[in-house]
Amino acid sequence: MSEAKIKKITPESLEEAADLLRRGQLVAFPTETVYGLGADACSDEAVASTFQAKGRPQFNPLIAHIADISWVDSFAVFSPSARKLAEAFWPAPVTLVMERKADCPISLLVSAGLDSVAVRYPSHKGARAMIAAFGKSVSAPSANVSGTVSPTTAEHVFQSLGDRIPLILDGGPCLVGVESTVLDVRADKPVLLRAGGLAVEEIVEKTGLDVLFPDKDPALPRSPGQLSSHYAPRLPVRLNALYPEEGEAFLGFGAVENATLNLSEKADVREAAAHLFAYMRLLDKPCYRGIAVSPIPMNDLGLAINDRLKRAAYPRS
Ligand code: TXA
Ligand code: MG
Repeated sequence: MSEAKIKKITPESLEEAADLLRRGQLVAFPTETVYGLGADACSDEAVASTFQAKGRPQFNPLIAHIADISWVDSFAVFSPSARKLAEAFWPAPVTLVMERKADCPISLLVSAGLDSVAVRYPSHKGARAMIAAFGKSVSAPSANVSGTVSPTTAEHVFQSLGDRIPLILDGGPCLVGVESTVLDVRADKPVLLRAGGLAVEEIVEKTGLDVLFPDKDPALPRSPGQLSSHYAPRLPVRLNALYPEEGEAFLGFGAVENATLNLSEKADVREAAAHLFAYMRLLDKPCYRGIAVSPIPMNDLGLAINDRLKRAAYPRS
């Protein structure tokens, strides 16, 4: 395939994207979290080509993206907690894992054979416009080769998948910068499968729901996609560093000295989340022997940042 075209979002590029999706092709598009690699969620062939382009392990299920809450009724079951969360937040960086309906038209490959489906209604206007132009649910993992740092600009997508897809819609840098929060909402109490762009504190405060953590209770369901090593730059990553060692790049947070780049000088975790993946890419250079990262607090989006950093630092063989 020839190189991907990068196009700003216009009525014409949206129509081109919708047309490619209808023909079973892949289109990369911006969301508020990270760029997604979109395919027709109802087409086994289109979804299969997503796994192929990403080099992703087949057992890892994908998220079905929608452009209106009403779309859910045709394929998944709203539990009371799912309804509450959707009404409180959607469109937002939160993905809800629901029970598939018996006649669910979404490819079983999206669910990786499970009887559940992950649903997300993104807040990014360009994402919603593309899905609406297509008129059906769009499956999309992050638009990068499996296991590498997620893309937060169209240029990142081009570097990773530029030779494998026809079109990248450019909606500028992603404002949230870490993937969506994933909640299993099939039971009364939502289970946190992945910390992400919607803070748990905000969920609890706005809905009064009790969020459960599988890390603290081995009996709870876990996300099949949470591989230990993921989001990995090429260089080794050292966490909770107070200063860099010889030859290391230093990814700082707050008022630190000697930072090569600082995620947020004013120690704001939201600003840090928005910079995280782009800065890890900038520091992942052969002129350094590793990346040392400042401690990041665990509140608000700090939970998602620490989750990604822990995976980036996981020892690789
Ligand atoms: O912000 C995001 O969520 C981005 C943008 C593009 O929307 N997408 C994204 O997709 O991060 P991906 O494929 O990289 O991550 C999907 C996560 C994985 O951890 C996967 O295991 C989990 O959602 N997931 C998907 N379907 C699931 C299901 N049926 N049950 C449990 N976990 C599921
Ligand atoms: Mg991903």
